[in-house]
Amino acid sequence: PAIRLEDYSPAPYTIEAVALDMQLAPKATQVHARLTIRRLTDTLPGTPLVLDGGGLELTSLSVNGVAIPVESYTVTPDKLELLSPPSEPFELEIGTRIDPDANTQLEGLYRSSGTYCTQCEAEGFRRITYFLDRPDVLAVYTTRIEARKSEAPILLGNGNPVESGPVPDKPERHFAIWHDPHPKPSYLFAMVAGDLAHVADSFTTRSGRNVDLKIYVEHGREDKCDWAMDSLKRSMRWDEEVFGCEYDLDVFNIVAVSDFNMGAMENKGLNIFNDKYVLADQDTATDQDYANIEAVIAHEYFHNWTGNRITCRDWFQLCLKEGLTVFRDQEFSSDMRSRAVKRISDVRLLKSHQFPEDAGPLAHPVRPRKYTEINNFYTATVYEKGAEVVRMLKTLVGADGFKAGTDLYFQRHDGEATTIEAFLACFAEVSGQDLSHFALWYEQAGTPLVEVESSYDATAQSLTLQISQEIAPLPGQADSKPAVIPIRFGLIGSDGADMSFDKVEGAEVRQDCLILSQRRQTVRFSGVSERPALSLLRGFSAPVKLHAPEKDQDLAFRAAHDSDPFNRWQASQTLATQSLLRLVRAAEAGEELVADSVVLDVFGSILSDGSLDPAFRALSLQLPGEADLAREIGKNVDPTAVLKARDALRAALGSTHMDLLRAALSQRESGPFDPGAEAAGKRALANQALAYFAASDASDAALIVNDLFDRADNMTDRLAALTLLVHGDLPGAQAALEAFRNRHETSSLALDKWFMVQATAPLSSTLETVRDLAGHRLFDENNPNRVRSLVHAFATGNPSQFGRPDGAGFSFVADHVLALDARNPQVAARLLTCFRSWRAYEAQRSSHAEAALQRISEAENLSRDSRDIVDRCLQ
Ligand code: ARG
Ligand code: ZN
Repeated sequence: PAIRLEDYSPAPYTIEAVALDMQLAPKATQVHARLTIRRLTDTLPGTPLVLDGGGLELTSLSVNGVAIPVESYTVTPDKLELLSPPSEPFELEIGTRIDPDANTQLEGLYRSSGTYCTQCEAEGFRRITYFLDRPDVLAVYTTRIEARKSEAPILLGNGNPVESGPVPDKPERHFAIWHDPHPKPSYLFAMVAGDLAHVADSFTTRSGRNVDLKIYVEHGREDKCDWAMDSLKRSMRWDEEVFGCEYDLDVFNIVAVSDFNMGAMENKGLNIFNDKYVLADQDTATDQDYANIEAVIAHEYFHNWTGNRITCRDWFQLCLKEGLTVFRDQEFSSDMRSRAVKRISDVRLLKSHQFPEDAGPLAHPVRPRKYTEINNFYTATVYEKGAEVVRMLKTLVGADGFKAGTDLYFQRHDGEATTIEAFLACFAEVSGQDLSHFALWYEQAGTPLVEVESSYDATAQSLTLQISQEIAPLPGQADSKPAVIPIRFGLIGSDGADMSFDKVEGAEVRQDCLILSQRRQTVRFSGVSERPALSLLRGFSAPVKLHAPEKDQDLAFRAAHDSDPFNRWQASQTLATQSLLRLVRAAEAGEELVADSVVLDVFGSILSDGSLDPAFRALSLQLPGEADLAREIGKNVDPTAVLKARDALRAALGSTHMDLLRAALSQRESGPFDPGAEAAGKRALANQALAYFAASDASDAALIVNDLFDRADNMTDRLAALTLLVHGDLPGAQAALEAFRNRHETSSLALDKWFMVQATAPLSSTLETVRDLAGHRLFDENNPNRVRSLVHAFATGNPSQFGRPDGAGFSFVADHVLALDARNPQVAARLLTCFRSWRAYEAQRSSHAEAALQRISEAENLSRDSRDIVDRCLQ
């Protein structure tokens, strides 16, 4: 049964205060909840009160201290209904018994490596006690946690610590009481209890509040928390300076757990993290891990205002907190690192994850209108496209308008559960702009295709652009309406500088931004003194596909001269893409694969241009991935031909530029490890050069890669070398894998990389390897990170082998979806989404993929999570 946005109505009752008492025991935790409930004035007295449950066992029930007779309520594991509740405010006391050890779904209260922890977003709180488990019911929580002292010396809850001590008459047990003064929805509830170590620091807010900061981890991991703690303090300062948001409790706790379905969770005052986004040191974390930790720590911290102080009225508004908070964490990382490099990385992620989602059967608007399982809507569209929409909003209202708008939003909606409409109204009000047309970005699914044809008239000195926008039909969205699309642009003259022009007709222009709003527009620039190279969509100012035919020579010119670094990168990527697509066609026709010289030249110039930021050079030297090319091809995709084309260009680049590459390799820096962006950029460039060198015909290539693997003093370099050895099937690969495993046997996160490298090798032997690894003593089907590092990595990071022509890759992944579904539906459903582009394959592969989906669909007792995805994929 689908839940629909238009059916929203407030609950008839509200819960104003919650006092929880949790008697922890591994297999039988006793929860006692005392809820202060009030009937809303619009609710008729006697209206039943229906509370959500999730697999609960009721042990006691009373109203205002008196046990209530059985005929006045009905109860199932998933629902508790009071048939005629008091019309005056009352206290409802509910006892429930739950089994944390049996909780393999990792939703609600569960144990990870012996530590009790919770995950309540979106609907996990109902697996702890019966409740109005919806984000618009805001209550003040007091939590008493009681456990055996030896089992759980650390007891953590939301808010501030109030009291703790031994339990009278039970010498082996102790308790702690936590109180959170800020009303919050149930999805932000959390508690943790276990035998954990911690690192401590402090932060003084700008108004002088002293906040104790602690990060809790398993014993022995304390020395891996420095980067996370540093990131936290920088996030707290940045949010004060840039958004004026200050922290509001006396403590801020982070707990890292090793079994976690998603990335992390912003529970009030007690963030719980997948340890992958906390733990880092030189030996076990890559530079990408460091960047991710910085971003996720910031993201969860920023939720304190965008999500917690101001939350969502209902789950359709998820992007209200997620899109905005992703935008905020992107801006934070941009300020901490290189803005251009961050923007390029974010757009790569958007195109590789969100664009395919938005073009297939799982497409949905940034604000969906219906869902059957909300956990399936924590998507790239809600998060990443949601952030792009906020970014466009900022472009349209300007930096000052945006600041004024967020100030108003924080002031007006603090303490509320609100909507996208309320958010947009703040910006409309401060800017005086009508944003109603812009709001379509929240309503309409699909990526607009913007096509531009340009013509220059030398006599009239005018440039004319014929522009159209269109979204291809999607399930449930046959046609689309034109959107407001801000296109930042520049007209580049033959000297490489941006040219001026006199006036523009046919579209509104604000500074360097063309604002499209119609299906078709003809835009005329006059006073343009020569035929310009057209630089469109600078900074990727809108989440659209841009088709503006451009010759290789013009792209090469812009790759060298565009003043916008994003478009400079994009020009080289587009050039490489065009060239690779020609190679794919040649591979499909069985012809010889000859790389275009323009591409070889442009990559050579980037490689030798020491004036550019190394991180930017590393990104510019990266070829579009196999999946990116498949997306460009769109239909009848043969992943083997794509792989061949890409390999051919890599080999040609390596062999053509061997001397430049050798020079780049010799520039590797030594000295103490520095995880900062600049040092990371140099490593990225050196490893990108190494990758091309390994693909070249140099006779000493394998030797050099093996040597770098042996000498690597950090995970980034070690993993880069290992990947080249394993993916290139080079001599020494097996020995290196063994050395890596021995070295990292005790670090689960490093071992994940060992699994991942093997799962993503584009070799015909990989499926067999992956099958063996799934039976390896180090594989653990119950640990989401491990499953992601093997099965998910194979399905999403190895297009040619997942998409084997015999269908065995699909079948293997389908087996895992089915096995996982019974224990952890959320992770199973997420894995299942890797089939979403199945219709884009050529006929043989797509029929194998369809058969795998059919088999999943026919399984009995499929979870609602997987049922939803498989149905949508097959519809
Ligand atoms: N709010 C969390 C974040 O953005 C994600 C939690 C998702 N959990 C889930 N079960 N869907 O960081
Ligand atoms: Zn979030």
